[in-house]
Amino acid sequence: MVHDFDVLIERRGTDCYKWDSMEERFGERDLLPFWVADMDFASAEPIQRALLERIQHPVYGYSCLAPSVYEAVISWLEKRHGWLIQREWLSFTAGVVNALNLIIQTYTLPGERIIVQPPVYAPFFNSVRNNGRQVVFNPLIETDDGYVMDFDGLEKQIDSRTRMLILCSPHNPVGRVWRREELERLAAICLSHGILMVSDEIHSDFIYSGHRHIPLASLSPEVEQNTITCMAPSKTFNLAGLGTSFVVIPNKSLRDRFNNTLTNVGIGTSPLGVTAMEAAYRHGEQWLDELLAYLEGSRDLLKGFIKERVPGVKMMELEGTYLAWLDCRELGITGCSVSEFLVSKAKIAVNDGQWFGPGGQGFVRFNIGCPRPLLQEGLERMEAAVKEHRGA
Ligand SMILES: Cc1ncc(COP(=O)(O)O)c(C=O)c1O
Repeated sequence: MVHDFDVLIERRGTDCYKWDSMEERFGERDLLPFWVADMDFASAEPIQRALLERIQHPVYGYSCLAPSVYEAVISWLEKRHGWLIQREWLSFTAGVVNALNLIIQTYTLPGERIIVQPPVYAPFFNSVRNNGRQVVFNPLIETDDGYVMDFDGLEKQIDSRTRMLILCSPHNPVGRVWRREELERLAAICLSHGILMVSDEIHSDFIYSGHRHIPLASLSPEVEQNTITCMAPSKTFNLAGLGTSFVVIPNKSLRDRFNNTLTNVGIGTSPLGVTAMEAAYRHGEQWLDELLAYLEGSRDLLKGFIKERVPGVKMMELEGTYLAWLDCRELGITGCSVSEFLVSKAKIAVNDGQWFGPGGQGFVRFNIGCPRPLLQEGLERMEAAVKEHRGA
């Protein structure tokens, strides 16, 4: 391994949301953070070098997108996901949540219904509500083998005012990498009812052994024409602060409408974000492969630790993403949420399951994107708090 992911980098004092806002958010200072989805690893060296070089040019005005940026994105998608896209299908946005809001505004009217499948990343349903559209929850079903989509429920939920479904693939927070058959069934239902599919694939580069990410739009020409895909290098290469993402829209009339929205709201690209994105997709592959091996080891560590040393907590299978979904219902925490319990007793910050909507109560989301010594310490804190709570 060339990159040493065990190195602890001090992020406090860098206006870092994950570390520096904990007191404000959780009411305590000396917590270890396993919450918001960014990682405590240094970006790949080629990205650091490209940014340094760009910064040394002292003019930071509006930027445009060189053909080489498009080429870097296109070849990444082909190489990593076997998805061949065309240059004109790409539009660049300043973040995926930003894109989701613009998508909702472009293709739906106030009062229309949009389906999401909780427990899911909260901005999916908050964006729907905040834009005056109606959220339709089609909760995932929890089975002994993990979560699955409720296709019968989906068919029942659809009515004449239902316009859109937002898919999370892979799914944050339950860690599923959707299989081809599942995506095909979902797409068949949406196509037959004229429901536009929006697929948030921001976590698609984090796929563990034995699984494969299938871009929803790559299923068939019909699905391609009915799907808007949101992606970004931000999770993959830990560049979230640079606000750079892209949307893939193969259908020309849908694309024209979205690009019109982008022009109207004045979305531009940041020169640093674009520089980092191109360097990442061109030169970041080895770093990512090493990171994936490291994260898979951390996932296995977490799984073994929870099973052997944290009674009453169960980890759902983590097929993709670096966000583990822990079932803490058996702990029987009362009087506060599980995350509040972990803040006050274990001094660790995690996302409470309730944030992810229906089905999240009693769960927490635990971010393993950190050096293993930190992960180990967090787990030992959790073990001690849980054992004390259970009187062991
Ligand atoms: C599914 C999903 N979509 C979008 C985002 C945020 O993306 P951005 O920072 O580009 O808005 C996250 C961040 O955790 C996420 O998990």
